[in-house]
Amino acid sequence: MRPPAEAIGELALVVGGIALLIFIGVEGALIYAVWRYRPSRLSAGEPARFEQNTRLEIAWTAAPAVVLAVVFVLMLGTMAEIGGASVEPGLRVRAVGHQWWWEFGYGGVTTANEMHIPVDTPVELELASTDVIHSFWVPELGGKTDMLPGTVNHLRLFARRAGVYQGQCAEFCGVEHAWMRIRVVAESQADFDRWLAAQGQPAATRGGDGEHVFLANICVNCHAIRGTGAAGIAGPDLTHVGARATLGAGVLPNDLARMRAWLADPQQHKPGALMPRVPLADTELDSLAAYLVSLK
Ligand code: CUA
Repeated sequence: MRPPAEAIGELALVVGGIALLIFIGVEGALIYAVWRYRPSRLSAGEPARFEQNTRLEIAWTAAPAVVLAVVFVLMLGTMAEIGGASVEPGLRVRAVGHQWWWEFGYGGVTTANEMHIPVDTPVELELASTDVIHSFWVPELGGKTDMLPGTVNHLRLFARRAGVYQGQCAEFCGVEHAWMRIRVVAESQADFDRWLAAQGQPAATRGGDGEHVFLANICVNCHAIRGTGAAGIAGPDLTHVGARATLGAGVLPNDLARMRAWLADPQQHKPGALMPRVPLADTELDSLAAYLVSLK
């Protein structure tokens, strides 16, 4: 398999080439007619007319139909290829759109906003939504497919080279639609296996101040941290939140200072986000931020 984006890009070039040829033909004929029948030559009389010329009318009806049929067949081939029907996926990931973040499920392992995939492996995404219509799009790795509440759509991703690929929700889904970024880390199979094994571990609980603040406040209504009593599912799973590169689906880089600022007032950084401002003392914010960034 090759990256679906390559197949899509190739089709776009072919269709663009056909369109360019037609453009040159039509504009060329127009320019020729303007020149050929310019006023200084009209003294020779009116040019011939083409009314009720059956052959011509059939020709210029059939030509576009043939062009469209060719494009249609080419497109069917590309759709079949990027759908990957003939290639067994090496990995299946469940991706769920939420207002305004992403949930990724690898079997029993749940994470958010940042997905890892092995390179050179066809990845089958099962796309769902818990609220409104979102659209999953990482342009360099695959096509764009809607996530619809109540139904499961499928999308193939394929990365040839290791690296970080940026994606974005591509269907307007509410006030923070623009801050629904997707970060895909493509890495070697060994690195991916290590990452997945680490994600599968419960959080190392220390019973420290930060953990206490988390468990004693409304954080637990929405968030899960495996290994503690927190098992909320409305918001992102935070078991290894410290290992992610960003906060709020891309709105802030993830470090201690930004984590603290985010916790102090999410609405200041992502207005409309469903995470409310939780009134906490400064010392509580310090220990909670330190605890969360420590969850690697
Ligand atoms: Cu989700 Cu736009």
